[in-house]
Amino acid sequence: MIHDNGVSNKSGNRPFEDVMRATMSRRNVLIRGAALSATGFLSALAGNKAFVQSATAATTTESAFGAGELGSSTAVAQRADLIHFPFLPPSESVGPSVGISSEYQYEVIIPWGEALELGVGPSYDGDPVNRPTAATQIEQIGIGHDGMWFFPMGGTSNDHGMLAINHEFGTNFHVLGKDDPESLEEVRTSQHAHGVSVVELRKTRGKWRNIPSPNARRIHVNTPMAFSGPVVGSTFLETPAGNPPKGTVNNCSNGYTPWGTYLTCEENFNGYFGATKEDWTPTPEQERYGFTSTGFGYGWYNFDPRFDLSNPDYTNEENRFGWVVEIDPMDGSQMPVKRTALGRFKHEGVAFAEGKGGRFVCYMGDDERFDYLYKYVSAYGWRQMLARGVSPLDEGTLYVAKFNDDSTGEWLPLTIENPVLREQFSSQAEVLTYVRLAADALGATPMDRPEWTSVGPQNIAYCSLTNNSQRTEPNPANPLVPNPDGHIIRWRDGDDLLSDRFTWDIFIFSQDTHSDEEAAFGSPDGIWADPEGRLFIETDGDQPTVEGFELNNQMLVANTITGEVRRLLSGPADCEVTGITVTPDRRTMFINIQHPGDGDPTVTNFPASQGSGKIPRDCTLVLTRKDGGIVGS
Ligand code: FEO
Ligand code: CA
Ligand code: CA
Repeated sequence: MIHDNGVSNKSGNRPFEDVMRATMSRRNVLIRGAALSATGFLSALAGNKAFVQSATAATTTESAFGAGELGSSTAVAQRADLIHFPFLPPSESVGPSVGISSEYQYEVIIPWGEALELGVGPSYDGDPVNRPTAATQIEQIGIGHDGMWFFPMGGTSNDHGMLAINHEFGTNFHVLGKDDPESLEEVRTSQHAHGVSVVELRKTRGKWRNIPSPNARRIHVNTPMAFSGPVVGSTFLETPAGNPPKGTVNNCSNGYTPWGTYLTCEENFNGYFGATKEDWTPTPEQERYGFTSTGFGYGWYNFDPRFDLSNPDYTNEENRFGWVVEIDPMDGSQMPVKRTALGRFKHEGVAFAEGKGGRFVCYMGDDERFDYLYKYVSAYGWRQMLARGVSPLDEGTLYVAKFNDDSTGEWLPLTIENPVLREQFSSQAEVLTYVRLAADALGATPMDRPEWTSVGPQNIAYCSLTNNSQRTEPNPANPLVPNPDGHIIRWRDGDDLLSDRFTWDIFIFSQDTHSDEEAAFGSPDGIWADPEGRLFIETDGDQPTVEGFELNNQMLVANTITGEVRRLLSGPADCEVTGITVTPDRRTMFINIQHPGDGDPTVTNFPASQGSGKIPRDCTLVLTRKDGGIVGS
């Protein structure tokens, strides 16, 4: 979902477009840059013996599941034949339902409003008259399905596990059937539709179902939360009202940890706040995070004072949002923990890779036009830290990326020891709470809306830059200025992943695919790099028109060795395709259809049958190859 906030980054740092323009012209790479640079980057890496050797170990730790099944990374790098399925043609990538490659099939599970545990409590079915209430929604699957992760039972099950899933947002029109809430009760309904669901999934007689479970739970905007890490104990998280921390909101993409927990990421949290008093004006910090007097129109602040920026009792309440939150999917009684060492920004997702000595390394995007890409490295190996009773997510260093013209880049540490930051900030707590401002001060590179990150074989990391509609400077020599269609970059840190230097390249420009019926896409958003060299690409935004068909949002599979891209699936009209996770054998994939028809039953009734009059509902699709093969092959 695109939330147009205007531009909140006024730092004047050199934008990524400028860096890229310089880099690309230096290399004389203009058209078909994708495949060319893809091959060049990988072959350059593969030609480096030390790189290949170190990458072998790295590859086996990258996947949560795939250890040992890949063979050497050299074999992976040489494998160019990864995609076999027939592409979904443009003529079938339109309309009110899901389109899928002829070799694949799907089933629908856990639509918005279904009972969290099937057979326990009321289920909502899309009836336009009898909608969920605050009391029912709190026990039902939320709306706005987005990032998610499958945690297999016993670490290995392919037909039984816990699924943690984000509920990013649902408009008042979709959830309440009206544009503005008229009571606190209606605000609560909206709040209960947001957050996270944890469900227990089991496949029985070929069908996946959310079964009764002691650990199934709904986490929402009023769920008690704990804070942890460097910001705890500072005044930034304290309100005059003294109310305890509650809730998570706008849970977009996600991550997972190697110790089996789920990470949910708070993105456009600013949009839920507003001001009831007309004389309210934002502080510079609030302005940098996009707070306005009306937010995105949810109207919560009219009934719930926590979200009223002009209520002095709740000063700093907004600082309690914008974090990465850790959830134990196997313990329904655990209190979710907001991990402040990872910084406060519009978190899109967390892509984990294990660095030297078992350090927890992750990459994170801040999805706003002209905002930044971040990296976090735990202070010690994650196993040692857990053994000492310290979370690897509480002690570590946060960095922000600066891209140079010569295909190199630097990770700039966001620490109070940095003299530049010491001048402007009083403490590490302040740096982390207002980390966008700290990154501005260090000269980080403003990007074109960093969405998902993912780390593939050889620890090559990817980030989708979905688009930047506010790039208006024409430059015919560079197809990315303006950049309405987005692109995907990739980079690699030093062999141990602990380096503050990296090398980077462009994997693909969406615009380069537009004349290709098999591959045309725009606005890449959800991505997942599988352990064999495929990159799954999910879209959220305007899609190109191919052969007269304006495509719906979709999922494609790219071969990162050859640059080949092929469409696997398209969603119903006016949806976003997002969220991606697999069973350990990768023969079952879960993806999400978010806001089909933008909630309008005259556009689509999905997943109910077309013409039923039902309100379209966000839901999860379970994808399998008809022959039972690896998904994506
Ligand atoms: Fe929630 Fe940036 O997408
Ligand atoms: Ca998006
Ligand atoms: Ca997204």
